[in-house]
Amino acid sequence: MNDLVHLAIIMDGNGRWAKRQGKERSFGHKEGAKKVREITKYAAKMGIKYLTLYAFSTENWNRPKTEVTVLMKLLSKYLHSEIPTLLENNIRFDVIGDISKFSASLQKEITYAKEMTAHCTGLRQILAINYGAQDEILRAINKSLQTHSEITKEILESNLDTAGIPAVDVLIRTGGDCRLSNFLLWQAAYAELFFSKTLWPDFSVGELETIVSEYKQTERRFGGVVTP
Ligand code: FPP
Repeated sequence: MNDLVHLAIIMDGNGRWAKRQGKERSFGHKEGAKKVREITKYAAKMGIKYLTLYAFSTENWNRPKTEVTVLMKLLSKYLHSEIPTLLENNIRFDVIGDISKFSASLQKEITYAKEMTAHCTGLRQILAINYGAQDEILRAINKSLQTHSEITKEILESNLDTAGIPAVDVLIRTGGDCRLSNFLLWQAAYAELFFSKTLWPDFSVGELETIVSEYKQTERRFGGVVTP
């Protein structure tokens, strides 16, 4: 049986979920944020150690300005309202991505949430914000070149945003599309991939349980062969 240490999720389908109910896309993002709470709490209860959630990509800045504003406000609201729940559930908050592009106040809120939960030893919830794997890898290469003329796997990994965090075991994408959209391309090299047609606000603990039990039975070979 495989251990599930690091779960990563591409939370797709908020916009379509809202449109289907005749509502604005922003309504879907609000419901999506509620789902983040539910799935995070459940992942902590299941004993998963790392949960990385794709909340805002480097490409999402190209969305209409009103939608970007809604997502920034939601993030800020989440950072304020979520700290007690994170503490109650022993969850440490973290981010990956280039946060220097966010407003000074949002950067402060991110730092505050990280500091307030730094002592928590259960699940680490990692929000990928202004995150793109290609951007992350390029930043890591340039950082590595400041101190090394030749880069090894270990040197590169120590300069990724995920330094010290184990590789992804399971990567789930909701919303029906079968692509990685520039998410954790290095870290998910040997991840088991699950594509669900469910739109993110409808994703359930039950569906997560089904995926996890399928994953546990999967034979992972990491490019090798199975020893009898
Ligand atoms: C993709 O759905 C989702 C996003 C780009 C943002 C994800 C954000 C959330 C789940 C809510 C905010 C989270 C936190 C933690 C505050 P989409 O809009 O691309 O949906 P579509 O494919 O149906 O258009």
